[in-house]
Amino acid sequence: MVQEKFPGVFVVGGRLATLSLAPGSRVYGEKLVREAGGEYRIWDLYRSKLAAAIHKGLKELPIKPGSTVLYLGAASGTTASHISDILGRSGSVFCVEFAQRPMRELLQVCELRENMLPIMGDARKPQEYAEMVGRKVDVIYQDVAQPDQSEIFLRNSALFLKRGGWGLICVKSQSIDVTAQPKKVFEKFLVQVGEEIEVKEKIELSPYDLEHLFISGKRR
Ligand SMILES: C[S@@+](CC[C@H](N)C(=O)[O-])C[C@H]1O[C@@H](n2cnc3c(N)ncnc32)[C@H](O)[C@@H]1O
Repeated sequence: MVQEKFPGVFVVGGRLATLSLAPGSRVYGEKLVREAGGEYRIWDLYRSKLAAAIHKGLKELPIKPGSTVLYLGAASGTTASHISDILGRSGSVFCVEFAQRPMRELLQVCELRENMLPIMGDARKPQEYAEMVGRKVDVIYQDVAQPDQSEIFLRNSALFLKRGGWGLICVKSQSIDVTAQPKKVFEKFLVQVGEEIEVKEKIELSPYDLEHLFISGKRR
């Protein structure tokens, strides 16, 4: 049985899934299920922080069919491909990644999905890919696991995020400070980004990802 949880996000046989935009292809070995004339990709809660956040009760999903998303830290496209499914052909996701190995895999995923646009670039230097993006975006999704996660978000938000647009940020406390208590690291992060976005939801991602906080907030 297929139930819609958010536009473009489904529960299929009790598991979170998206309707594949590239039927017949897998991105990370995910299970494919044919139901009601479509092919659904089961969305692994342990492989995608967005899936874990939705499963753990995210109330509003600002990534919608037709949205434009800037994705920082796309890796080989696990989560970005599910976002591509949600957006459909009328939306687009710009996928920024700076490491060569995941980028090679990401390029193969993007070849099958016209709405996924790969950008080999450093998220610390958004001006270097500003021309490629060439517009304001509805959502910035960030999962970079770097000590300067808050600065990276602020720089990209200033350049690309529409007023009233959304930031979805996966904060990894261990990458910011291994010695500090995660709670303290998260509090500091929230203050740093709080000037730019009004934080709406905070979801701690255990047991799917340890010491990670998922934040959603609206640009002021
Ligand atoms: C935790 S992984 C992302 C997993 C991915 N978001 C997913 O769910 O499928 C973090 C990724 O961010 C990339 N990254 C880290 N710092 C970056 C930067 N400054 N610019 C671009 N990519 C970066 C890393 O190379 C790595 O692939």
